[in-house]
Order: sequence, then structure tokens, then C-alpha cells
Amino acid sequence: MTQPTFAFSPHATPVEASERAGRIVNPGFGRVFTDHMATMRWSEGKGWHDPQITARAPIVMDPASAVLHYAQEIFEGLKAYSLDDGGIALFRPEANAARFQRSAHRLAMAELPERYFLDSCRELTLAERDWIPGGEGSALYLRPFMIASETFLGVKPSAEYLYCVIASAVGNYWPGGAKSVSLWVSREFTRAAPGGTGDAKCGGNYAASLLAQSEAIRQGCDQVVFLDAVERRWVEELGGMNIFFVFDDGTMLTPPLTGTILPGVTRDSILTLARDQGITVAEERYSIDQWQADAASGRLVEAFACGTAAVVTPIGKVSSADFAFQIGDGQPGARTSQLSKRLTDIQRARSDDPHGWVQRIA
Ligand code: COI
Repeated sequence: MTQPTFAFSPHATPVEASERAGRIVNPGFGRVFTDHMATMRWSEGKGWHDPQITARAPIVMDPASAVLHYAQEIFEGLKAYSLDDGGIALFRPEANAARFQRSAHRLAMAELPERYFLDSCRELTLAERDWIPGGEGSALYLRPFMIASETFLGVKPSAEYLYCVIASAVGNYWPGGAKSVSLWVSREFTRAAPGGTGDAKCGGNYAASLLAQSEAIRQGCDQVVFLDAVERRWVEELGGMNIFFVFDDGTMLTPPLTGTILPGVTRDSILTLARDQGITVAEERYSIDQWQADAASGRLVEAFACGTAAVVTPIGKVSSADFAFQIGDGQPGARTSQLSKRLTDIQRARSDDPHGWVQRIA
């Protein structure tokens, strides 16, 4: 067996087994955390060093740490699944490692070598294997992130970074386990502009989405959907998910990766699986007016949101200040359900994996 990369110091007082078992039943999203975390540091001159897995604990930092002032921060999200045969698998971790490097480059941060990303995710998951929930739709959500940790108030790329991975037992992303979601089209706010950070997974993009997301909630919707920042007419993405449209002739469409949209791993997986089935999927711009017209005429039969956290979620209703419309009969559509099942069957190693996406780690 190969030596682990991250030195393991077990938690002195981990959560007791019966307490843990209770917490991972219906965990919801993002509130149930495991006992440990993986960390590694980078500094100018020294490069990457000190890989460790230790007890999960608060991060002690100087109040002048660069991330607290200039938001030099990036993150990832991926899941570890408990398989029917008792094994454990990660889904496309190399895709997350590659995106983490691209995000680091865009935020002028040190790029974490893929090996450290993959080893940190695998070794932390194995240390926390008893925290992986077994229930349908549940998983261990891994959240790798990196922050600028230099103590300095000048505006420049940090000379020090802290890389960290935490893990959370998760079930359905949507409170109450929503079967379909409603969207609010934000007219006032945009998420990303050409030349900005829209295609990097950085906390700032999510911070910028929150006011619009709050408005969506105030308007009785589940999620905000953003239009492009230039013409304010092309559908881009939701607050934290990509979007797909399904038409009555069987074709599909998703907005293209022009630099303002996050290149989602789930987006790419759905595109690939649909094309494997011979479905024509365009990566083309789609306007809000066309969306409304196609929903009214019946040309648009389904729409769904997708992401690691939300997986595949049907969109039932779309509203804005000046309109509201329903998609199909407002219920999950056949194509959405079929692609969702195909994807989750692969993730749980229940069907063939033609692209080698599932990485068994136990
Ligand atoms: C994910 O889907 O993993 C994300 O990072 C998006 C966030 C809304 C949870």
C-alpha cells in the first residue's frame, strides 16, 4: 500500500458512533460536519508544504489576513458515495482538481498540484468513511477551498495560502426536499461580466448573487436566474447551478461557456450523457423572451437546474416583475428524470461507466 500524503493525527474525542449515526440520517445540506479536515500550506520560497489531516477546528488567523479584505478565495464541491457493495467512490475528482487550478490562476493564487487535490479528497474521505450517509440521494460532500493567508493590507496576490478540505454529510440540497423549483429572473442584478470571474469558482461570485437570491426568496421563488450583464437578455445560470432546456422535438440547449458561466462538472456530465444517447444538445445563447415564448407555445417542454450539490432539479415555474409562466405541467419531465437517473446510477456504480468517471477508493 502506498504511503498517505497527508500526515494523519486522529481527533482525540471524535463524535460518538450513536450520535454520528443520528446526525447523518436526513442531514439536509451543509450543516453536518465530520471530525477531521485536511490542510496544506503554500508560501513564497517554500512552495507547497505541511500536508495534514487533523481534528476539524476553527482556523486561527490574523485580522489583517488578505482573504478577509480582498476576497482572494476559491473553492470546489464534489461528492463521495457509499456504494451498494460497501465500497466508496468519488465522482470525476480530476475535473474538480483541474477547475481548482483554473480558478487559482484567475484569482492570481498558487496552483495546487492535482496530486495534492486528489490525495486530500481521497485520504479525508477514507478517514471519515463512517460519516458517509447510505440513504438514496445522500453523500459525503467534500468542500476543498483555498484562502489568501498573508498578513498584509496592500492589494496584491498573497505570498501565503492555506488549502483546506472539510466534509459534510448531505442529503437533498433543497429545504423540504423540493421535487421541482421556481425561479426568479433578476432584472436589476447580474452575476458576472465579460472579463470578470464568472467562470472561476470563487466565493466572490456567490457573494455577488446573494442580494438577487434574497429577492427571489422574497418573491416566493426558490432560486434566482441571472441574465447576461451586457444585453440583459441571455439566460446565464442560477445562483449556484447551471441550466438546461428540453424542447418538443427532443433536442436540448444549455448556455455556452463564454467566460461568464461556471463550467459545471454536472453540466459537462449531462452534456456528455445526452450526446451519448444521440440527443442533439446545443450550447447556444437563449433569451428570456424566447424562453417565455417557447413555454407559452409548448415548444419548451422541460427545464432543469444542475450542479454537484443540487444534482438535477426540475424547474417548474419562472417569474419576474412583469411575467410568470409554467414549464410543461410544472412537474418533473421524462427527459429530466431519465438523465438524472442515468447520472446518479453511474455515480453510485449501478450502471456502466463508459467515460471512467467513477473513482473507487475503497
Ligand atoms: C455545488 O454544487 O457543489 C456548489 O458549489 C454550488 C453551491 C450552491 C452549493
